[in-house]
Amino acid sequence: MNVKSILLILTLLCGCTSKPKTAQPSPNQDFYNSHLLFDLAEETEHFDCPIEGKIPDWLSGTLLRNGPGKFTVGDKRVDWFDGLALLHAFTFTPEHVFYSSRFLRSEQYYIMLEEKSLNFSGFAIDPCPKVFKNQTTRFIPQEMKDINNADVSIQKYGDQFVALTEIPLPVIFDPETLATIGVFNYQDKLEQGQWESPHALVDPATGETFNYFIRFGRNSHYVIWKMTDPTRKVVAEIPVDQPAYMHSFALTERYVVLVEFPFVVNPRDLLHRKKPFIMNYKWKPERGTNFIVVERATGKVTKIKGKPFFAFHHINAFDKEGKIYLDIVTYPDAHIISEVDGDEGWKSDLADTITLKRFTLSLPDGLSEEELFVQSAELPRVSPQKVAHEYRFCYLVDYDFPNTVTDKRPLYKLDTTTKTAITWSEQGCIPGEPIFVERPGAVAEDDGVVLSLVLDFANHKSHLLILDAKDMKEIARAAVPQAVPLGLHGLWKGKQ
Ligand SMILES: [Fe+2]
Repeated sequence: MNVKSILLILTLLCGCTSKPKTAQPSPNQDFYNSHLLFDLAEETEHFDCPIEGKIPDWLSGTLLRNGPGKFTVGDKRVDWFDGLALLHAFTFTPEHVFYSSRFLRSEQYYIMLEEKSLNFSGFAIDPCPKVFKNQTTRFIPQEMKDINNADVSIQKYGDQFVALTEIPLPVIFDPETLATIGVFNYQDKLEQGQWESPHALVDPATGETFNYFIRFGRNSHYVIWKMTDPTRKVVAEIPVDQPAYMHSFALTERYVVLVEFPFVVNPRDLLHRKKPFIMNYKWKPERGTNFIVVERATGKVTKIKGKPFFAFHHINAFDKEGKIYLDIVTYPDAHIISEVDGDEGWKSDLADTITLKRFTLSLPDGLSEEELFVQSAELPRVSPQKVAHEYRFCYLVDYDFPNTVTDKRPLYKLDTTTKTAITWSEQGCIPGEPIFVERPGAVAEDDGVVLSLVLDFANHKSHLLILDAKDMKEIARAAVPQAVPLGLHGLWKGKQ
């Protein structure tokens, strides 16, 4: 695996992962560190962004984003995933875009910023310190002790906005000021697990939020829940001997689907904690990939076994006329994770192995697959109005990291019906996860804009790009006051 691939993992892994132990040095590492994965210079408060073009009058609300934003203390550096969670807010008002950024005030923040140390139980050393009750002896301010470095995604739980990672301790923050508030308390008695997907899904038709967690133990379970008010109710509790690493899952109008890749862990290995969390997982292709289909209304479980493959992100899913369609960014195996361990050496062609696929399930046992897009692309998003429903368009970013300041990395709009894509790109720029915002009153699925925080690594600056989702042509861009390192996932908060 080359450093590009390692960095991709770090970009995609959201939570309990581990430090590459023996990653081979790359001639491009300095380039990545200086041009893509640098420390944010300073936090920003309500900066009035200079705008090129014209912001659509109807675009009113706030784009919230998350991702690591500080990696170094003195001359020491943590790996990408141990960077401090950095929140961003782009607030659109008539004629203006205001930008703010603020680090999540977590235990790790205190250690890096106040103690000037990298000596913390981060993902690299013990990835789930809260869950596994690891004790620290240093003095940490009480208000930060339970707050995890949730640097992956953002969700709205009830009336609150939370930052998430794969440790099931959501962190509430103020979407206006980005101030850290505290750990989210569910209003229910559901016993929490030790791992949870950072990609909760909201069915736009019902308003219900779905997610799943894993409860590890002598008898491990996948626990799928739905939340409305914000009380969670269990949809299904599925026993599992060796839980799989599943970063995300699928939701349709009738079903929740866990795509159980054969990248699994013996829970006893986690208890011994001799290795970082993810290094306990093993690729066991003989298990195949199990599509665990759970009927939302009844919790009835049907399993369909398919060929082994691996993925981080589901694009979208829907059911229609008795069939279930799952669109997934697939990898042929879990080398992208397991090779980080360094025991098998690195593959250099992982970018070429990504394929966007559509899997069609017909209960009780029908399964077929087809390619949707052969270009290597990741961080897929669709219109929030189309989540769990039949859809046509998705938006993604190119896989490869740039190597020189003259490179460019495309942003794609994929038409899943024609399997063709149109792109936006600009030399020296790498776009972040694209987020679609629908125009009020829109009828067409792609009537709206695509927002992407673009890093102009050639000139060490950043801007928020606003594209017409119809043709991916630029409408406007809003400059931020400093370069922003590559981020992960975000959320559009419409005007209340
Ligand atoms: Fe993710």
